[in-house]
Amino acid sequence: MKAQLIDGKAVAAQIRAEVETAVAALASRGTPGLAVILVGEDPASEVYVRSKGRACEQVGIRSLTRKHPATISEAELLAEIDALNRDPLYHGILVQMPLPGHIDPQKVIEAVSPLKDVDCFHPFNVGRLVIGMSVFEPCTPAGIVELLTRYEIDPAGKHVVVLGRSNIVGKPMANLLVQKKAGANAVVTVAHSRAKDIAALTRQADILVAAIGQAEFVKGNMVKDGAVVIDVGINRVDDPTRERGYRLAGDVAFAEVAEKASFITPVPGGVGPMTIAMLLKNTVKAFELQMG
Ligand SMILES: NC(=O)c1ccc[n+]([C@@H]2O[C@H](COP(=O)([O-])OP(=O)(O)OC[C@H]3O[C@@H](n4cnc5c(N)ncnc54)[C@H](OP(=O)(O)O)[C@@H]3O)[C@@H](O)[C@H]2O)c1
Repeated sequence: MKAQLIDGKAVAAQIRAEVETAVAALASRGTPGLAVILVGEDPASEVYVRSKGRACEQVGIRSLTRKHPATISEAELLAEIDALNRDPLYHGILVQMPLPGHIDPQKVIEAVSPLKDVDCFHPFNVGRLVIGMSVFEPCTPAGIVELLTRYEIDPAGKHVVVLGRSNIVGKPMANLLVQKKAGANAVVTVAHSRAKDIAALTRQADILVAAIGQAEFVKGNMVKDGAVVIDVGINRVDDPTRERGYRLAGDVAFAEVAEKASFITPVPGGVGPMTIAMLLKNTVKAFELQMG
């Protein structure tokens, strides 16, 4: 393999240790708290929520998980968010997506106080991010910036191609990297399912961020020699040789792309662990904001 592995697990562990130190240093002012709301019984969401709770406890952040059946009404859910907005014990609120079809996710996102919006999904925070005055930065894209920084990969002047334009990954990734500041200053292209020739775009990338949710979509011949490849995808691929019947694959065909790239993130162990680490960081930031 030619590429150097970007070890998200190790960097995330480092950030968690930094957060633990920050939490301990803040102890005389109180304890940062994160409330997580889970609706329904989606197994993947249950795993994510459990990991978030565990990660909080490990670094000394107070954690609350509120589980609701999929039948909860939108009004009940909004009332719960309203109560948490006013609860001084919890500085961050996260509503695990996806929500059942009868609940409007946008209403839920906008119900969370912007000061407690540690996911950075509220339009107030998204707007501030776009104009370069962010309060919070969304966890997954911010985790990617952190990985680049810690591996001394400076995006300044580089052509970054982001595959995917979701509000959670693609768009905020582009918005972070295009900012006029250290750790950004990139020239960014955002590609999506309507792009006419995806490979022609990806081959131009000095840094390629793949976030489309299509297992092993990015092949070796779609990547320029020496590119930095960041794989956000988490896809289940059937694998009868595994006890659980599937394996996790990214959006990048790892083995062949690793022969051309200069740096590459693995799946699992790349971007994934960074998301929770950045959530912990945002919770501490929310605490500091609310405590003045
Ligand atoms: N590591 C983490 O912590 C983390 C966090 C979030 C998400 N993820 C993973 O990242 C992936 C993307 O997540 P998401 O929430 O951004 O997904 P999403 O909301 O489904 O968005 C997918 C995006 O990819 C585009 N797309 C889909 N197929 C394409 C194709 N064949 N060619 C070009 N563009 C295509 C879509 O285009 P259109 O807009 O035109 O439909 C859309 O913009 C998923 O595998 C998800 O599990 C990982």
